[in-house]
Amino acid sequence: MSDSFKDILPHTEAGVMTITLNRVDKKNSLTAAMYAAMADALEAAQADAAVRVVVIQGHETIFSAGNDIGDFLNKPPAGMDSPVFRFLRGIATFPKPLLASVCGPAVGVGTTMLFHCDLVYAGDNAAFSMPFVNLGLCPEAASSLLVPQMLGYHRAAEALLLGEPFMAEAALEVGLVNRVVPPMEANGVAQSVARKLAAKPISSLVETKRLMKKGQQQMVLQQMDEEGASFGRMLGEPAAREAFGAFMQKRRPDFSKV
Ligand code: COA
Repeated sequence: MSDSFKDILPHTEAGVMTITLNRVDKKNSLTAAMYAAMADALEAAQADAAVRVVVIQGHETIFSAGNDIGDFLNKPPAGMDSPVFRFLRGIATFPKPLLASVCGPAVGVGTTMLFHCDLVYAGDNAAFSMPFVNLGLCPEAASSLLVPQMLGYHRAAEALLLGEPFMAEAALEVGLVNRVVPPMEANGVAQSVARKLAAKPISSLVETKRLMKKGQQQMVLQQMDEEGASFGRMLGEPAAREAFGAFMQKRRPDFSKV
């Protein structure tokens, strides 16, 4: 079994494909291979009439620590066809209902992917953060567009400029999550909602989602491309090198010279 297959467990039952992030020892940080496996799973889910709903879930202690920093340093995304961008475009354009169940830390893309999900269920231990600036980077996944829209500009600035985390109750208040439950119940709640959706007419679900999203689909994809170009450039610049070096060496970054 390849690592990406072991780290991403897609499983389909009763019309619901569940994609489980399963790299808990590394806090479900996402490697290029995992992004590729998730992009492949979404493509398969889109094409397979037997799949009507997709759920992305983690572990009750951790949703995802975002990009795997070592993997990102060694194999930075090369162009818009790289696995991370395939995955991001996949969730932004996925036509069927997409749900997430989030417990524990959801860092970086662990949070930004949720802005593309239709319904999000959170454990009361969920902690959302988008520390791109603290890593010498800029937002991705169209979060520079979608976060201000959902949170309002000033709360978005706290989240994106200061990189401050916010907890499940705050996420519920701004509408990023639909319901907060005890962590052990979150995946079960997402499954039961997914099954309820899977019993509805798929053509109505798909058309309703298309109509809700069509107003800004192009804008989202354009923003993603522009962010992606900046993000790729900034990965090689001194601020990100210092931030990532500090993470690997388990020390505080020093941005005084960048
Ligand atoms: N990339 C690579 N490895 C990561 C990682 C990441 N994003 N996040 C965690 N890990 C690894 C740690 O290096 C550690 O590995 P080790 O056991 O070999 O030393 C292991 O996962 C456990 O992480 P640790 O930090 O000890 O867990 P924690 O419970 O104290 O904290 C987090 C959990 C998620 C809060 C913390 O790991 C974190 O902040 N990670 C970085 C998140 C980040 O900046 N992501 C954005 C990337 S763009």
